Amino acid sequence: MPSVLPEGEPAPSDGSLPDHAQTEIPLRPLGIYVHVPFCTTRCGYCDFNTYTAAELGTEPGASRSGYIDAAIQELGLAARVLGAEAPVVSTIFVGGGTPTVLPPDDLGRLVAAVRDRFGLAEDAEVTTESNPESIDAAGLVRLREQGFNRISFGMQSAVPHVLATLDRTHSAGRPLRAVAEAKAAGFVNTSLDLIYGTPGESAADWMESLDAALSAIPEHISAYALIVEEGTRLAARIRRGELPSPDDDDLADKYLIADERLTAAGHTAYEVSNWSTSAATRCRHNLGYWRSHHWWGVGPGAHSHIGGVRWWNVKHPAAYASKLAAGVSPAQAREVLSPADRRVERVLLELRLADGLPTSVLSAGERGRLPDLLARRLAVVENEMLILTRDGRLLADGVIRNLLD
Ligand SMILES: C[S@@+](CC[C@H](N)C(=O)[O-])C[C@H]1O[C@@H](n2cnc3c(N)ncnc32)[C@H](O)[C@@H]1O
Ligand code: SF4
Repeated sequence: MPSVLPEGEPAPSDGSLPDHAQTEIPLRPLGIYVHVPFCTTRCGYCDFNTYTAAELGTEPGASRSGYIDAAIQELGLAARVLGAEAPVVSTIFVGGGTPTVLPPDDLGRLVAAVRDRFGLAEDAEVTTESNPESIDAAGLVRLREQGFNRISFGMQSAVPHVLATLDRTHSAGRPLRAVAEAKAAGFVNTSLDLIYGTPGESAADWMESLDAALSAIPEHISAYALIVEEGTRLAARIRRGELPSPDDDDLADKYLIADERLTAAGHTAYEVSNWSTSAATRCRHNLGYWRSHHWWGVGPGAHSHIGGVRWWNVKHPAAYASKLAAGVSPAQAREVLSPADRRVERVLLELRLADGLPTSVLSAGERGRLPDLLARRLAVVENEMLILTRDGRLLADGVIRNLLD
């Protein structure tokens, strides 16, 4: 089953924000995330908040067909809470789950609802995630007509035995054809997600996947180390000894292989796990997360952040729909960050970016630890920005933990 949410403090049933958060609304760009909690089958490694038809059951409100109406109701709540001071929306990201198990016209209703309620910037980035086997050329044309201009396909690997271990159902070549179809449909921004470190994956397998991904000429590639999430089928298979655990040295080697190969092909890492062909093709929506901008996360289990207040919705689609039908916020709980918490978050998130973190954000104690970091070539300081090197990115979590007070 999907992972558990944090505990937090109670969230108001009308969705209202503390005054200090309300005053920050006009000060930062606003993104909208919409979570689509449905998948055709569940991949053995995945603990995202997503449900197959069998897992969903027949509870009222849990159906795929009624979901967009519930999400649009939450967009209405968001518009009321954020009020007239809200900026027009600069990015929409429909993620999952598998958004493209829903018809393109349903996903288009979300874009239209955001435009109606908030206004959508002229140059807005409008992304959907998609599984390559869940969409065809005609569907991609329709998505483009509905206002989507960026699409991210879950490729994961080009090697059949790796795809099989990950329980992926698409053929090795399908993601590459999907990118070509998306480009033909007019998507100017395409992205592929890859996973490395799958049990049984050799270095040669990983290079084959990287080269295959590059051959489709996407503008953006994400490469994630496989995480063995508690409670997944993958974790059970590893515990039973059927599969070996991912190995830290192997993961490190594969990260370096990825960075070298992607860089040689003209991509630059703008975040630890994300590469793009230029600054213009970075994912602006995800940059908003790393830069602590504002976003409202619509849908079951979705997280939001406005002015230092983070909240998250109830997880089950039926519970989510019934809260909205009763006219109350679907938020399960929230966390109001102190100024000190917000500073630590900035360090944690901005150091993941190639643009780095202004050194002025560091405390005196943290600044005292910089010389060691620089001497070990894990980071550099350029124009008063602290920037991780390739070796620093490789060890990003540990480096940042050791730097923080
Ligand atoms: C949650 S999925 C949603 C998109 C789509 N359903 C798919 O699978 O491509 C987004 C991405 O998260 C990554 N992901 C999910 N679970 C992961 C795990 N346990 N370890 C590493 N990456 C993971 C995959 O690369 C996936 O493409
Ligand atoms: S298709 Fe994507 S969201 Fe669905 S179970 Fe697989 S990885 Fe998770």
